Amino acid sequence: MLRFEIKARDAAGRIGKLEVNGKKLETPAIMPVVNPKQLIVEPKDLKKMGFDIIITNSYIIYKDEELRDRALEVGIHKFLDYDGIIEVDSGSFQLMRYGGIEVTNREIIEFQHKIGVDIGTFLDIPTIPDAPREKAEEDLRITLERAKEAEEIKQIAMNATVQGSTFLDLRTYAAEKLSEMNFEIHPIGAVVPLMESYRYKDLVDVVVASKIGLRPDRPVHLFGAGHPMIFALAVAMGIDLFDSASYALYAKDGRYLTPEGTKHLDDIEYFPCSCPVCSKYTPQELREMEKEERAKLLALHNLWVIREELNRVKQAIKEGTLWELVDERSRSHPKLFAAYKRLLEYKDYLEENEPISKSSAFFKVSEEILRTPVVLRAKERAERVKQKFSQTVEHPIFGEIPKYLALTFPFAQSEAEEDFTIPKPSKKDAKLYIKAVAEYQFGENASKAFEDAFVELSRKTGMPRQIKAKGKHLATFRAEDGLLTLGIEGAKRLHQILPYPKMRVVVNADAEPFARKGKSVFAKFVIDADENIRPYDEVLIVNEKDELLATGQTILNGKELRIFKQGVAVKVRRGVES
Ligand code: GUN
Ligand code: ZN
Repeated sequence: MLRFEIKARDAAGRIGKLEVNGKKLETPAIMPVVNPKQLIVEPKDLKKMGFDIIITNSYIIYKDEELRDRALEVGIHKFLDYDGIIEVDSGSFQLMRYGGIEVTNREIIEFQHKIGVDIGTFLDIPTIPDAPREKAEEDLRITLERAKEAEEIKQIAMNATVQGSTFLDLRTYAAEKLSEMNFEIHPIGAVVPLMESYRYKDLVDVVVASKIGLRPDRPVHLFGAGHPMIFALAVAMGIDLFDSASYALYAKDGRYLTPEGTKHLDDIEYFPCSCPVCSKYTPQELREMEKEERAKLLALHNLWVIREELNRVKQAIKEGTLWELVDERSRSHPKLFAAYKRLLEYKDYLEENEPISKSSAFFKVSEEILRTPVVLRAKERAERVKQKFSQTVEHPIFGEIPKYLALTFPFAQSEAEEDFTIPKPSKKDAKLYIKAVAEYQFGENASKAFEDAFVELSRKTGMPRQIKAKGKHLATFRAEDGLLTLGIEGAKRLHQILPYPKMRVVVNADAEPFARKGKSVFAKFVIDADENIRPYDEVLIVNEKDELLATGQTILNGKELRIFKQGVAVKVRRGVES
């Protein structure tokens, strides 16, 4: 019905591939809100601008006889003249804003089926922030009842929205309950009032409490969030989808979006943007235009900015610089800064999702960034390695670190105001570097696999390259990040040394011959995994008897390996022939 898999990640954010009804979408993505009564920008023009998904409101169409008849007659795609993915909301938001609506859960779901939407939404009840606990509980009870009804009748991909007001335990509970049911996407609901009043810190609490309860293999939508200033933070928390009505609503009031906040056209002398609109007109020219023309052009600018900021976030994920971007954006508003600091308090949630390596160096751009999981994990692991490898060097960011970790991420791949002089390995001590990295990367005792290792040093750079023993390949030292990629012999040794389930990804019998031949392992074949595995770890693939089948790199963490059913789980580097 809907497929979703993770292609790249950084912080708790991810780039995903979503597919529904044969239509593809890359996430994080934003759906412009299309008001069927007032098309400020034509849906087909949204598609041309690169918006592959839009959202409209099935309740607004349902309530208006003319619109309803036409949508029923020609279907929603023709009705809006849009051939991308169409998601619809259910009227829940109108329920929150205006107190009541004239449709039942079953009626609106059936209407969504009939007009042929790609993704529907049942009639959840948004409970506003700071509601009395009893009210939040009662609303949630009804929402979960409606979820059950929706699950029984649904024929299409459907949103199941997490509610619970500002009660974090209710949010986690709702997320867990909905995750057990057969839904495809989980929005986080009733957050618009938090965003409207700049309560970003509370937003962080609500989102993380929800994410903790949700299955990690379903995309998460932050309902009603569409301001570019929160994209980086929201994606870093694990949000995959956004929707924006603001591009049009703001435009009507003469408001101009930027990634740092909103400005009024009356206050702009120079456009800080070079989109087609801002390149063609001056602020003064826009001000002198007719109201409608101006609103349309401002809406287009707002859409370009939204698109650009989302691309910036995606690029940051690819580069491994999302934390740096969040840090930068958080300086735009004190309330956003407070939210960033709050997010950093969720250490365990963040650490589980943080990649073990990145393609960019870590930049010490602030004091706050020293509390991101990259840094905390590096320090913690370095402390552990120091117990065995006590020779240290002083690092400008990380303090006293084991000398033999000096080539490894993030110690060598980092920039601070002061330089770090990397102590290069010699023929005599090269093996100690490898052993220390093994303990850092694979855990305690992993260095034992390298007792008799011979380390080849590159003639050009002086860095370790291949690591061998008795003519067999143990591992390759990666020049980019100073971590190890295992050879068959290295994997066999670690498999012997490390007790089950350490570093293991357990696959079923169907996957065994493929893994042994060096083919990638798909998530649906994974039965179990070490919960301490982190994104981009090198892992051991074993069968149910704990026989070693292969070694490779996983994009998922241990929890996700157990839950995901779609996509590649481990990119196998080498298989062990039986
Ligand atoms: N739009 C904004 N917030 C919400 C919400 O909580 N539920 C639904 N269904 N739509 C929304
Ligand atoms: Zn512009």
